[in-house]
Amino acid sequence: MNVNSQPASSKRKPKTFNNPERFIEGWYWVIPSLNLEIGEVKPVNLLGRELAIYRGKDRRVVTVDAYCPHMGAHLAEGQVEGNELRCLFHHWKFNAQGICVDIPCLDESLPMKLKTWPTAEKYGMIWVWTGEYPQQPLPFIPELEHKDCDVIFGPRLVMNCHPNVVGINAIDAQHFNTVHKLLSEIIFEKDELNQNAIIFSNTTYSGEDSFLIKLIRPFYKNPVTYSICYWYGTIGIVTLSFDSLYIHVMFAMRLLEGGKTEAQTIAMTRKRQGIFGWLHNRVILWLTKIVGKDFIKADIRIFQTIQFDLKTPIKADMSIMQFINHLERQKPLMWKTWKLARSQDVEMKEKREKWRDELSND
Ligand code: FES
Ligand SMILES: [Fe+2]
Repeated sequence: MNVNSQPASSKRKPKTFNNPERFIEGWYWVIPSLNLEIGEVKPVNLLGRELAIYRGKDRRVVTVDAYCPHMGAHLAEGQVEGNELRCLFHHWKFNAQGICVDIPCLDESLPMKLKTWPTAEKYGMIWVWTGEYPQQPLPFIPELEHKDCDVIFGPRLVMNCHPNVVGINAIDAQHFNTVHKLLSEIIFEKDELNQNAIIFSNTTYSGEDSFLIKLIRPFYKNPVTYSICYWYGTIGIVTLSFDSLYIHVMFAMRLLEGGKTEAQTIAMTRKRQGIFGWLHNRVILWLTKIVGKDFIKADIRIFQTIQFDLKTPIKADMSIMQFINHLERQKPLMWKTWKLARSQDVEMKEKREKWRDELSND
């Protein structure tokens, strides 16, 4: 059956997908681990929110809201003391939990707390959870869930469309033929890993016609398999397997102002022991980096100019619609405030109720 021949229906307009004001509560990358040394504090803007991020003496990274709760000085101008952070302005000091522990001009500190955000490190990156308590581990794929990884960074790119739109490229069945010139028919199967993660695996693709695959064809027997695991609709981990050789590349994206995307590609593989393990990983990571670059090279022009609007979905767009449905069921937050995004209907209802309450109180 030609999958492109069947029309498919799109019912409701998505509220979160491709919305420049919204993102899903989750783990997002901030800066590479190597860019923050012990005793260093840096300003970062993540998803519209100003933060200060520092590494204490115990090597742990702490992320706090940028502005001091005393008078609003930017805390990235301050100083790390042990595992604590002192504001530059009046020297109030906050510990790693954000609790104010010293106010130099007072005998005792005040009971106040600076907002801190859950922070972790993996894949050579510092990650921040954008809610109170992490509901998920850091993004993973089942093959590497409890494994330490070696990584190298590929290019960092800014693209002129939303991370969700960049992300769906990896499951856009038609474009593999039209843009990437692969001749095989592509059909994906979906598998929801949990509320925030979904895997699409290709059931048909052998990819024999791609240049890279022709290059390494003599070294494996079985057909190539391809899958992508999405987290929060924003991070995609692609896996290509050639017999027992696995190639993983993460497209770690985040939303920039105005609905643009900042993407960092990260080639990753499980850690291997010894000098041969190290050499093996260097070769794999180098190969993965080339595959990652190749993966997005042909799409870049599309990302810079697209005004995404899936007005006419056909059956070949089914995976994209499944992705959108999965995304719409996750917890949406607002750009900059990181507060829960609610639908206009709920907000209108709340306003009406408040207005009624105010009237009845008069
Ligand atoms: S503004 Fe930070 S101590 Fe005063
Ligand atoms: Fe593509």
